[in-house]
Formats: sequence, structure tokens, C-alpha cells
Amino acid sequence: MNRTHHNGQLRIENVGENVQLIGWVAKKRNLGALVFVDLRDRYGITQIVFDESFDERLREVKNEYILNVEGIVVERSSKNPHLLTGDIEIQAKDFQIINKAKLTPMIIADETDALEETRLQYRYLDLRRPTMQKNIMVRHQITRSIREYLDQLDFIDIETPYLNRSTPEGARDFLVPSRVHKGAFYALPQSPQLFKQLLMVAGFEKYYQIARCFRDEDLRADRQIEFTQVDVEMSFMSTDQVLNIGEGMIAKVMKDVKGIDVELPLRRLTWYEAMERYGIDKPDTRFGLELVNLNEVVKDVDFAVFKNALESKGHVKGINVEGQAQNFSRKKIDQLTDLAKTYKAKGLAWLKVNTEGVQGPIAKFFNEEQLSSLLKAMNAKDNDLLLFVSDAKYEVVCDALAAIRNYLGKELKLYDPHTFDFLWVVDFPMFEYDEETQRYYAKHHPFTRPKDSDIDKLETDPEHCLADAYDIVLNGFELGGGSQRIYEQDLQERAFKALSFTQEQIDAQFGWFVEAFQYGTPPHAGFALGLDRIAMLLCECDSLRDVIAFPKNTSATCPMSKAPTEVVKAQLDELGIGVIEVESKSE
Ligand code: AMO
Ligand code: AMP
Repeated sequence: MNRTHHNGQLRIENVGENVQLIGWVAKKRNLGALVFVDLRDRYGITQIVFDESFDERLREVKNEYILNVEGIVVERSSKNPHLLTGDIEIQAKDFQIINKAKLTPMIIADETDALEETRLQYRYLDLRRPTMQKNIMVRHQITRSIREYLDQLDFIDIETPYLNRSTPEGARDFLVPSRVHKGAFYALPQSPQLFKQLLMVAGFEKYYQIARCFRDEDLRADRQIEFTQVDVEMSFMSTDQVLNIGEGMIAKVMKDVKGIDVELPLRRLTWYEAMERYGIDKPDTRFGLELVNLNEVVKDVDFAVFKNALESKGHVKGINVEGQAQNFSRKKIDQLTDLAKTYKAKGLAWLKVNTEGVQGPIAKFFNEEQLSSLLKAMNAKDNDLLLFVSDAKYEVVCDALAAIRNYLGKELKLYDPHTFDFLWVVDFPMFEYDEETQRYYAKHHPFTRPKDSDIDKLETDPEHCLADAYDIVLNGFELGGGSQRIYEQDLQERAFKALSFTQEQIDAQFGWFVEAFQYGTPPHAGFALGLDRIAMLLCECDSLRDVIAFPKNTSATCPMSKAPTEVVKAQLDELGIGVIEVESKSE
């Protein structure tokens, strides 16, 4: 088909040229003697004008018909500054219908009133919307920029298997039954972690892969069951070198895709500092509203809630919502309290500061001296609203206040939503203690290396043993993470021991992997970035679903193909699988 231009191409300089365009009818307006048609393709929209000689033939043409139009470029009398081609229009000389279209179940334009379920059911139509086309193209630009960057640095793209045995990444596995070995299952990779480490043992030195990963976890706006990682591993590099490579990649992507210069090196916060100041290990650093540790300041205050928390080695923290005392009614504070309670806090204490002092249900528990040190610690002024959470558990205090902080940051518009604030969070704890099973679990994965200074703590003080692990964070989202890996056999054994693995468990789960470490394993480290999350944030979308061509909905199904579906009995028989009848949800 001989089109001369695409629909985003023609400008005022082209006036007078004969052109041939192809596209979908985005809109048709009948203005008496003239009919205007917006012709759309992936590049943009061009307006076509048909005079009355086309009336009869145009009657049939409807939205989403594909037309081939011949015409001449003319200057528009009323220009449209919102369109790239808004200075011109095409005076049609002839046209053909290339294909017809049924009435579509949704409006195909940036503004659509279609429910997300409908958009996903007719995804191929949803993807025709210019905004979705833009998102998918931005995603492509990101991947291209990353590939260029890693290629320049001598990284090699190597594929690793999808059909595999379970890797210890911590989520539930998707299992694939084997027909040949009945009763045995492959697991889809949660990440290429073990294979990329084995590629280091194999001597490739610098590996990357744009890798699909599968995790059977509950879906959220920033989580899909299948997602894509930019997965990187390298040998003989210090943590500083690894972080330089990671942030260099981010800077190139931001420059190539958004035209933004990111200042390097990126800021680094230790995990502990992030928790202390923001209550979360993926802080949104576009605004202040930082947490203040008040354990010392309130230790003698006669308020049972604080006292009980501190007596059980707990914590009291507060935030100062500056200048907002008068804007927060009782009802609004109750809403914040409910938010705190969803994060397991037992309540939310508050004070409003005014010229006379403070006002609020807990004011009476403070004497003058205590009050003045509180106001000083929180840097409080007239009309500030002070919020407090205390609990025996550090995580509860942090989680509740972090949630309130993020909520207020957005609600009070404390930041420009178009800014990008990257940082590294480093020095994560090696382990997390689980009360229920009374044992330590790896916070990252069991092959994460302790910081050199903390190796002895594996046995003496696992709780405070820090890992040489890092996350990259953007605007309150974890974009990626990684670590130095353990490469010495004896250290790996000590780490397994700290995690209470028995020799049988080690042999059964990772024997095949640890075996490789006996044959000259180089020191190695790496990271993985969530490509979907980068695309979501760069496109300024609220959900990963807007940057994945064919995503799953929140109940992990595909409304278009209806996957997952039952399969015919013959298929199950071949796999030696029987399905236990479960009550259907509608019953
Ligand atoms: P981790 O588990 O932290 O590390 O994953 C790395 C990054 O992948 C993204 N991500 C997800 N994105 C969408 N949906 C999900 N369900 C999902 N889960 C994770 C996040 C996250 O930061 N093998 C290690 C990396 C390493 O140590 O090299 C790993 O997988 O952006
Ligand atoms: P109470 O003593 O339960 O009436 O609580 C008095 C105030 O303290 C109320 O505003 C509660 O929301 C608040 N509060 C209760 N528990 C906590 C807690 N763990 N941390 C902070 N404030 C709390």
C-alpha cells in the first residue's frame, strides 16, 4: 500500500503536496456540505476534509473503518495546537475502504469511560488509544536504552530456562507438570537468580537479560504475577562499582526517554536511616514530613499508651504536619486513625499547636517541661498538627506512620508529581525473625553476602548482621534490588546454619547449586530492576497494567482470553493429574 506519509508527519511546509494516507477513522463529523474525518495511526492523527461529492460513499464509513485516502495538503483555517499535524488538513480527492469495523464496545480515545475490565477484555482496542500506544512505546525506548548501555559496557545477553526447579526467592511458585515424568513438576522462575550466579561461575563475567519472572502472589497496582526484570550480574566488582553501573543505567534511561539529567552519584541512605526517618525501606523522598523518634522525649510522660509501649522495649514516633492544625477536623483525624489501624497501630495520638500551647486529648499528660522538649524535638510552631504512634513493635510504629506520611504527602500536595527522586537504600539486615516459626529467614535470599564487617555476627548477633544488599527506590516505589553474593563455601555453610537449614534440606534444595561453588567461584554481585515499574513511573501511571500490553487483572485472570481455564480430561490424563472438585464461588 503506497502511503506517502504517516498520520503524525505532515506540517505547514507540506502544503500543496499530493499525499496518500492510511489509518483508522477516529472521528467523523458531518458539517453540512463538508465531512471531517480524523485519520489515526500509531504516529498521530490527520484531519481529512471531504466535500459534498463524497456524501453518498461516505455515508457507509464509520468509526474504526480503515481508509486509504488520496488528497492534497492545505493550510487549516482553524488550527489545532494540540495536534502535531494541527496546522494542516487533507482535501480528499479519492478514498477506498480497506476494511470495515463493527461498532466498538468502548470509545477509542485518550478519554474513555470504559471500565478497566472492558478495556482488558478488548485490549487490542484499548491499545489503539493514543495514550496506551505512547506507554508501550516508552517501554520500548526504556528497554532499548538499557540494552545500548549494557552493550557498551560489554555485558552479554544470555537466556536462562523457564522450566526449572524452584528458586528460593520467597514467593509461591507456578508449577508446570511434566508429562514425561508423571508426578514431577517444573517451577517457573521467580527470577534467574541461581542461573545468573552459575553464569559467573562459568566465567561470563558480565551478564544481563530482560527476563520474564513468575510469582504466584496477590496482585496489586505495582505487582503482576508475571513481570519483567532487567537482570544483571557481574564478577570482580565492588559494591560501589555495581551501584555506579546501576545508577548509570538509570541516568541514561532518564536522559534518553524523558530528557532529564539525573545528578550522579545518587543519594544513599542506610536501611536503618530510611526506617528511622521515613518508617519504610522505600521512602518517597520528594517531600519532608519526616518521622521523629520520641523515645527519650516522652519517657517520663504519664500517658499509659506511651508508657506501656516503652516498658515493653517499644517505640514512640511522631510527625509534624506543619501549618495544618486548623485544616484537620476531628473527622479528618479519625480518618487518619483508621488508616493507622489498618497497619496494626492501636490508635493515633495527636496534638494541635496554637499560641496558647497545645490542644488535644493527650495534652493533659504533659507537664510544661515535657511539652517544651516535645515541641522542640518536633520543631513545632503555631498551627502545626502533631501525630504520634507508639507500639511495642518497631515495625508497627513505622508502618503506620509511613502510611500516614505517604497519604498526607499526596493529599496535601507536598511534592510536584512530575519529579523523579531516585536513591539507594543500602545495608539491609541479613535476616528477618519470624515469631511464629521462631527462626530467621533471609531478608533477600540465602546467597546474599553479609557486610565484611558483620560476618562474625552470623553466629553472635544475627539480628544486627547487615547484608551487602541494596535497593534502588523512586518516588516511594522499590524499582530494584541486589547484593554481593556469597562465593566461599565455608561462609555459605555458616549462612545456611544461621537460617537453621539442616544438611538434608541444603542438599535437597540447593545441592546442585552449591556443588558448583567448589570449582573456583569468582566474587560476584548483581541486581534486578523491575522494568514494568520503571515504565509505570516514567509514564506517570498508577498501575503496571497501563504499561504491559496484555496484563492480568486484579484477580489474576485475563478478561480477554479468560485464562486460566479448565482443560479437557484427556490433557489431564496425559499428565497423570486429577483435579479435586472445589465448590465454585457462586454457590
Ligand atoms: P527482587 O525480588 O527484589 O530481587 O525483585 C527485583 C525487582 O523486581 C520487581 N518486582 C516486581 N514487579 C512487578 N510485579 C511483581 N510481582 C514483582 N516482584 C518484584 C521490583 C523488584 O525491585 N534475584 C533478585 C535480584 C538480585 O539479587 O539480583 C530479585 O529478584 O521492581
Ligand atoms: P485511649 O487511652 O485509648 O482513649 O487513647 C487516647 C488517645 O491515644 C486516642 O487518641 C488514641 O487514638 C490514642 N492511642 C491509642 N493507642 C495508641 C497508640 N498505640 N499509639 C498512639 N496513639 C494511641
